[in-house]
Amino acid sequence: MYRAARGTTDILPEEQVYWRYIEQKAASLAQLYGYERIDTPVFEETGLFTRSVGENTDIVQKEMYTFEDRGGNSLTLRPEGTAPVCRAYLEHGMNNLPQPVKRYYLASIFRYERPQAGRYRQHHQFGCEAIGDADPALDAEVIDLAWQFFQSLGLQRLTLNLNSIGCKQCRPKYLAVLKDYYASNLATLCADCKTRVERNPLRLLDCKQATCQQVADAAPRSVDHLCPECAEHFRRLQGYLNLLGLPFVINHRLVRGLDYYPHTVFEIQPEAEGAQSTIGGGGRYDDLIEELGGKPTPAIGFATGIERIVLNLKRENVPIPPLPRPQVFVAHIGEAARGEAIKLSASLRRNGGGVIEGMGDRSLKAQLRQANSLGVRYTVIIGEDELKAGAVVLRDMTTAQQKTVPISKLPAELGS
Ligand code: HAM
Repeated sequence: MYRAARGTTDILPEEQVYWRYIEQKAASLAQLYGYERIDTPVFEETGLFTRSVGENTDIVQKEMYTFEDRGGNSLTLRPEGTAPVCRAYLEHGMNNLPQPVKRYYLASIFRYERPQAGRYRQHHQFGCEAIGDADPALDAEVIDLAWQFFQSLGLQRLTLNLNSIGCKQCRPKYLAVLKDYYASNLATLCADCKTRVERNPLRLLDCKQATCQQVADAAPRSVDHLCPECAEHFRRLQGYLNLLGLPFVINHRLVRGLDYYPHTVFEIQPEAEGAQSTIGGGGRYDDLIEELGGKPTPAIGFATGIERIVLNLKRENVPIPPLPRPQVFVAHIGEAARGEAIKLSASLRRNGGGVIEGMGDRSLKAQLRQANSLGVRYTVIIGEDELKAGAVVLRDMTTAQQKTVPISKLPAELGS
């Protein structure tokens, strides 16, 4: 027996109700803020991701699904959605459109991680990217969109964490200070962090090991080492977030797992949760378009994990509206009535009403049992007598009352 590959899951019908709910909220909210949908391919040239996400990140070092195709090209299943959107922005000359260009996506993402609750090897993201404007008001708008998305889903008890990690000018100086600090605390660090000191010092700050957390809590803070431009950007952003009434918390240990962020970074977490709990995150990536061969083009975006949203909707018992299902079952008695049942079902469907038709030569009792377990509102029964009379029996499944109705009157009776 084959099973779904480790870290992947089937989304069965009983789960689909959550997915449709989330996708519809995402699409309608994105539209309110002026975002248009973009779909990019599932795989891209490997270089796009090593270049953008960063050679020294966990994603590039350990988590990418990279393969060579039959033509000898190195391709990678997308481990995130921002770089593909930037690639498409450049490829399709979107720099000639009014800026910022706003695009959203609902996409599958692939990372070879150790699977656990809320962490998969294939997961799905709703993401938004606003490319072509450096205004901190755009940061505030994107953060507002992310926050309103969770609000509109009915999720509460969330924390909005915010930080600024500086830019090309000021970050190197901050990293030097950070490295010095960590060099003097090397003995207490976990094995991973010992290698991070040289490889990726910012990530030292978000290590989840208890002893490393103590060291990180007392570490120098990026906000104390910002250049005047970064400090002003961050100050204005906070002012706008206050105007919007968004309850943000400045978290000095918030850094992100991808290398392309300068300035603003943010994450949204369920309160009092563990390491795998972040349901959304993003930030500015002002240098990425240039890194990929375009002109300097500031940008900001965020993405959220749909599987983690589903987990939180269940945990918070948020009521989800059911998906529409057929409310009519058409049962037949005998082969002659069957032709009429086929025609009637088709005509009701052509009229826009959902119908489930009884199959095979099961007894009426068995067909009614099936109708009952499907939870339909009505069962239409056609037997020989009804066939002769040009009528059907209409059974209300909630009251079990039955009446004979001429076929021509059936749509009106069913309210369609
Ligand atoms: P990220 O933080 O790596 O950011 O991923 C975004 C969200 O995807 C996370 O907050 C989390 O909810 C979900 N997620 C990540 N990995 C997994 C996993 N293995 N299993 C389940 N859910 C997961 C990005 O990918 C950036 N591209 C976001 C962005 C857009 N920044 C700017 N624009």
